[in-house]
Parts: sequence; structure tokens; C-alpha cells
Amino acid sequence: MPDISTKYMGLTLRNPIIAASSGLTKSASKIEECEHAGAGAIVIKSVFEEVLAQADFQIAGSATIHAEAYDYFRSQLEMQYGPREYLDLISEVKKKVTIPVFASINCVSSKWWTTYAKQFQDAGADGLELNIFKIATDTREDSTAIEKMYFDILEAVKKQVTIPVALKIGMYFTALPQFVAQLAKKGMDAVVLFNRFTEADIDIEKLNLTTTFSFSTSYDIYKPLRWTALMAGQVGCDISATTGIKSANDIIKLLLAGASTVQIASLFYQKGIDRLVEIIAELKAWMAAHKFERISDFKGKLAFANTQSPQNYLRAQFMEKIRGIE
Ligand SMILES: Cc1cc2nc3c(=O)[nH]c(=O)nc-3n(C[C@H](O)[C@H](O)[C@H](O)COP(=O)(O)O)c2cc1C
Repeated sequence: MPDISTKYMGLTLRNPIIAASSGLTKSASKIEECEHAGAGAIVIKSVFEEVLAQADFQIAGSATIHAEAYDYFRSQLEMQYGPREYLDLISEVKKKVTIPVFASINCVSSKWWTTYAKQFQDAGADGLELNIFKIATDTREDSTAIEKMYFDILEAVKKQVTIPVALKIGMYFTALPQFVAQLAKKGMDAVVLFNRFTEADIDIEKLNLTTTFSFSTSYDIYKPLRWTALMAGQVGCDISATTGIKSANDIIKLLLAGASTVQIASLFYQKGIDRLVEIIAELKAWMAAHKFERISDFKGKLAFANTQSPQNYLRAQFMEKIRGIE
């Protein structure tokens, strides 16, 4: 029977499949279900920095929160955890499950971390995942300033904790490999590729703006697949791939590209967390058929740095592939 245990951020996971931060990981009972179905680890539903900020009664004065966003955040607050509830949840979960538990923080500044990151560690979190997204709207703000915000948050958190820290980021960076390598130099243990966002939409009858969200589709896997492959083994940290994973085959592809772990949400919402049982069996069956005894036997085998045909990862323009379509 193949051994599917793996190392991620210095921790040993029984398998590389993580239940991604979402409603599926928002309570101790749901997290127990994830463990029971076979998850290698879980990332708890994110606590939002705005909630932590509000707990300190300073939210209205926070320079990081646009005034118009304030009402929106307030309306969300009742649905979100406060810091006390989040700490209690971490402690409760750690008493109930044996798989690694990552706390997740949706960050917009480095301001609050001197207080909370250490408390999450003390509550028992095995690692932290910082979910950071900054939309560039200011024509005077350059990429250096935006990247500095990520560095500042990482450094502020790393000063407070000894547990491993991952950053979950979007894909809109001009030079992603150098940016990720810089983060790794500053102590980031893993990068999570990529976050999935809600999108802005327009109601053409009411002539106003709305926010839309849908579960991922199979086609969404190709962006994390390419960027995992391009960076695996090159950037000085582990890679966890997420978005668009629908099958054991998708997981195998991402491991071949060099991911240490994968994170799944949409599939489990749509098919149930028990789909994990079949996926694990399919992963083991594929490994046995290919005579791989452990994950390290094939992890990164088809990464950009290792494959005989790296040009496939670089090809992006419409050429032969679509000739039959046009
Ligand atoms: C309903 C829902 C809620 C989510 N909430 C969070 C969250 O609080 N924090 C976070 O980092 N990601 C959140 N995500 C993103 C997932 O963790 C995951 O990265 C993303 O959905 C891509 O994986 P998928 O294609 O398997 O859905 C959420 C996803 C869904 C579907």
C-alpha cells in the first residue's frame, strides 16, 4: 500500500489533501467531519482583520479601511468571529482532532498582528495562513509599495510566532517568482496559490453594483498548475495549490507539478466531504499502478525545472492548439 504521508511547512501530514478555509471548516463539528473523511489537515475559516480591529474599538480610525467599506464590514461583522470566539474555536478543535490545524487570517495591514498572531499560536494552532489581497487602485502607488505591504505583514507576524506561516495570495503580480522568493527569504514557510475572490458585477436594470461568487470549475486548475510548476523547487518555500481541484487526477497533476499539498473547498461543498474517501483511494491506486511507494517518488517530477519539455509551461499564445477550433 503506497505511503501518502507528506511534509508541509515542516509538519507531517497523513496525506497532502487539506480542507480549505471555508464554511466547511468554521466549527469544531465540521472540522471533525473533515478529519473523519480523511483530510490531511484543515485551514479554519478565516477571521477577518477588520473584526480584530473592531474588537480594539479603533476600526473607524483605521487608515487601512476606506470609509465606504466600513458599512459593508459592519454588516458582515455579526456573521464573523470575534477574536475571543476564534481563540476558543482553535482550542476546541485542537482537543477534538489530531490532524494539523491552521488558523487563517484575512489581513489588510500589519497593525494588529503584535497582539493576535501569538494568541492564535498559544491557543494551539499548528500554523498560520495569512490571506492577503490588495487591489491596486491608486495610479501613484507602485508595485514596490504594494509588495512592501505583504513583507510588512509577514515580518510583523513572524516576529510573534514560532509556528510556520503561509501566505495565500492572488496571482496578479508582475514578477511572481521573485516576489515569492523574497517572501520565503523573509521567513514565509509556504505560499498558497491562489486565493479565489468574489467579483464585482453590474446590475444593468437597477444600474448599480453587486458582488458575485461561484464555485470554481475544472478549468480553474490551470493557473495554479502552471504557477506551481514554474516555481516549485525554485523559490525556497513549500507550495500549496488551490482552486479548481475536482478529482484525484487533479491532485496528482499538482503534485507532479511540485505542490506539497492541495486545498479543496468547492468540490466538498458540491459533492460532500465524503468524496475525500474515494479521492484518497484513487490517489493510492494511481501510485500503486505507477509503482510509486511514496509522494516524494513523483512530487515535482514535471515541475518546470525538472521536465524535459518546460516550454509547455511558457506557451500562452493561441497557436497550433486552437487551429482546429478557429
Ligand atoms: C463558501 C466559501 C468560503 C470561503 N471562505 C474563505 C475564507 O474565509 N478564507 C480563505 O482564505 N478562503 C476562503 N475560501 C476560498 C477557499 O479556501 C479556496 O481557496 C478556494 O475556494 C479555491 O478552492 P476550490 O476551487 O476548491 O473552491 C472560501 C471558499 C468558499 C467556496
